[in-house]
Amino acid sequence: MPEINPKRLMQDLQHLRNIGAFGSGVIRPAFSPADMEARLWLCNRMSEAGLEASIDGMGNVLGRSRNPGKKILLGSHTDTQPQGGWLDGALGVIYGIEVARACAETPETAHYGIDVASWSDEEGTYMGILGSSSFCGTLNHDDFNKAVDHLTGVSLQQAIRAAGLAGIPPFRLDKSNYLAYLEAHIEQGPHLEAQELLLGVVTAIVGLRTFKLSFTGEQNHAGTTPMAYRKDAANALIKLAHALDLEFSSLAHPHTVWTIGHIRLDPGSHSVVPGRAEMLLQFRDTDEALLDKLQDKASSLVQRFCEQGPVAVQLEPVYPHQKSALMSDKVQTCLAAAAQLHAPGRWTSMPSGASHDAQALASHLPTGMLFIPSIRGISHSILEDSKEEDIIRGCRALASATAAILKER
Ligand code: GLV
Ligand code: MN
Ligand code: MN
Repeated sequence: MPEINPKRLMQDLQHLRNIGAFGSGVIRPAFSPADMEARLWLCNRMSEAGLEASIDGMGNVLGRSRNPGKKILLGSHTDTQPQGGWLDGALGVIYGIEVARACAETPETAHYGIDVASWSDEEGTYMGILGSSSFCGTLNHDDFNKAVDHLTGVSLQQAIRAAGLAGIPPFRLDKSNYLAYLEAHIEQGPHLEAQELLLGVVTAIVGLRTFKLSFTGEQNHAGTTPMAYRKDAANALIKLAHALDLEFSSLAHPHTVWTIGHIRLDPGSHSVVPGRAEMLLQFRDTDEALLDKLQDKASSLVQRFCEQGPVAVQLEPVYPHQKSALMSDKVQTCLAAAAQLHAPGRWTSMPSGASHDAQALASHLPTGMLFIPSIRGISHSILEDSKEEDIIRGCRALASATAAILKER
């Protein structure tokens, strides 16, 4: 069995945490200088681990094993949310490098082929799971050409040029190279910790859809405009947000979630009735039919608000929809055996409420995911954290599952 080196693992995670550090978290959005610095550092770390490492025109870092034969692909992402935690994505990438090193150092596993990837823009600054979709050949070129960071207005193509990646050909998956894709990740939710469990084997990943709702009323004086005369875009936004919340609650399954993550009022001043407003609405579930129902409900509410007036409302998808994905039964069985070995009786099978690159890979390779607990279930926050003993255990379990799959080839 390959033996991972816990000290080296933690040092690499801490090093990566310092690139774009922000308090106890990290600011490393896709294609930012910090993201690119982290990618160059990863290339060096992969090369030192004996992998042939490079960055493609999408920002993907891929470290390829020099060993012959079918390989395992391990990976995740190293870009972050506008204010992210230090482990979201970074954990799975550094685990991959550590597992590759551990196998190379163990005589019985030194011939195993392990490739390691850090996919680009998993978090969707421009387009969620961008790099892994490109690798799988499923990137929609219209979506790619239209992709924009909705917070800054910078387009994906501009960002790729500014990062110095324009013209570099993208990596492409050759399915015949790989036995499986494995991605380890922090849970990012409260379930493992609440049940005092140590590992999670993922069964399915949620699909997600994001929409922009734009409200057009009439800008006017906040003191002289009587309430009955107003076409107040903020008022319509608040009422529609509340109606959405009520209607979604009545349709939701136990794991369905919805979020209004961004609101903008224009001009956004205390003495002006806002003439325009917008908000981003996102909802997630593993059941695509339920996502269809939620989308229909949002459309019908928007139509009702438009008919009632006095503010016009428009609903449009922003960011491409991400489809839900099932994890491979065979890979789940391998991960479950590894979980039982390293956390006897203290692991569970569970769906993922977060999106992951495994979602893109799942239609092309036998794919599985392993979760470790998140302290207080906090993620997409600088407070995100996991216990060191849990981080080390997760890497050991991933090493065991990887070795077990490669042993059978
Ligand atoms: C990605 O991390 C997501 O689930 O939003
Ligand atoms: Mn992630
Ligand atoms: Mn994330």
